[in-house]
Amino acid sequence: MSSRDRIRTVVWGTGNVGRAAIRAVDAHPLLELGAVIVHNPDKVGRDAGEIAGLGRTSGVAATNDIDAALAVADAVVYAASGDIRPDDALADITRAIGRGATVVTPSLYALYDPQSAPQEVRDPVLAAVADGGGALFVSGIDPGWGNDILPVLATGLASSVESVRCQEIFDYTTYDQPDSVRYLIGMGQPMDYVAPMVAPTIPTMVWGGQIRLIARALGVELEEIRETLLRRPLDSTIETPNMGTFEAGTQGALRFEVQGIVEGEPLIVIEHITRIHPSCAPDWPLPPDGGDGVHKVIIEGRPRIEISVEATDEGGNRAAGGNATAVGRLVNAIPWLRSAGPGIYDALDVPLLPALGKLKRMASA
Ligand SMILES: NC(=O)c1ccc[n+]([C@@H]2O[C@H](COP(=O)([O-])OP(=O)(O)OC[C@H]3O[C@@H](n4cnc5c(N)ncnc54)[C@H](OP(=O)(O)O)[C@@H]3O)[C@@H](O)[C@H]2O)c1
Repeated sequence: MSSRDRIRTVVWGTGNVGRAAIRAVDAHPLLELGAVIVHNPDKVGRDAGEIAGLGRTSGVAATNDIDAALAVADAVVYAASGDIRPDDALADITRAIGRGATVVTPSLYALYDPQSAPQEVRDPVLAAVADGGGALFVSGIDPGWGNDILPVLATGLASSVESVRCQEIFDYTTYDQPDSVRYLIGMGQPMDYVAPMVAPTIPTMVWGGQIRLIARALGVELEEIRETLLRRPLDSTIETPNMGTFEAGTQGALRFEVQGIVEGEPLIVIEHITRIHPSCAPDWPLPPDGGDGVHKVIIEGRPRIEISVEATDEGGNRAAGGNATAVGRLVNAIPWLRSAGPGIYDALDVPLLPALGKLKRMASA
């Protein structure tokens, strides 16, 4: 395929997700890296291959000239943060869609399930689609394929289904994101600290769309969405390699569920079990191989089906592996989305396609 025929893809933001996106675009036979947009002034002018750890230069220098970058974009992987700046992220995304780009992103929680998105988020996207003819697909791993397309596909292997449970089980001992770990989810905080990520209604805001997607795929009516939360203190003080000391008696583990209630029972459940050290809450489920993390789907029914996904990248790192699969879901969707035309798409619309033409085409990490 000549470079003229490839889909010119712009990566916007070069954090964890953006770096993996540069590698995924580089490795995709139907895509070409058109530009890389950065916010951090120190990154302007640096080669995208160097930023993403490709092991070679890409010939694309990072830029903060958003208009010039969007002018060459058929598609945009929007990987700038959205959780801490949702309004700005929405404005960036509608700007790209309004220029006719197909945008894929994990950054807007409200749009994982566009059908249940608040009007003030959905309307500007629809207006941009109508104006510019672009498209949008919001996905990732969790929320994302771990609690939409994977459980939905797995139910297709069952004769009968009694319940669907999606689990993320992670140990954050080796993480290096102290703000998220200490303040967003409250590790190392007094046991009466209200962690913003699990404050009432927030889990439903983030994962409720995934419950609705599964319910819709299974053709069942949801009566309500409920939340549960359990916390455990550390028995002893522990040291982490990157985030310092976590004192005995402070929060060391967190277990919460977002439950889709069908016929009075929690039949569609998204559960998270998160520890700052494996010694905390050892009676709660652990990754089957004893590693740092796993995403699981458990279908109770005939037969009982249990799937564990343990992705690794960047030297055996499970968090990087998870991010890379989120990126794979998004970047690999771009050719299908381009042919599908303008619109807002969800995880039930966008097929999970095989890695056509990519066998042996290794992206260096
Ligand atoms: N659902 C999922 O499975 C999933 C998984 C991972 C992440 N996410 C979401 O994806 C997004 C990116 O995550 P990440 O881990 O890559 O985050 P990250 O490592 O913190 O990177 C975010 C990037 O956003 C850019 N940025 C920061 N402040 C900005 C601002 N004020 N204006 C414009 N750009 C700004 C920066 O890009 P430069 O450094 O290039 O300037 C930064 O590197 C987040 O919203 C996160 O919640 C979702």
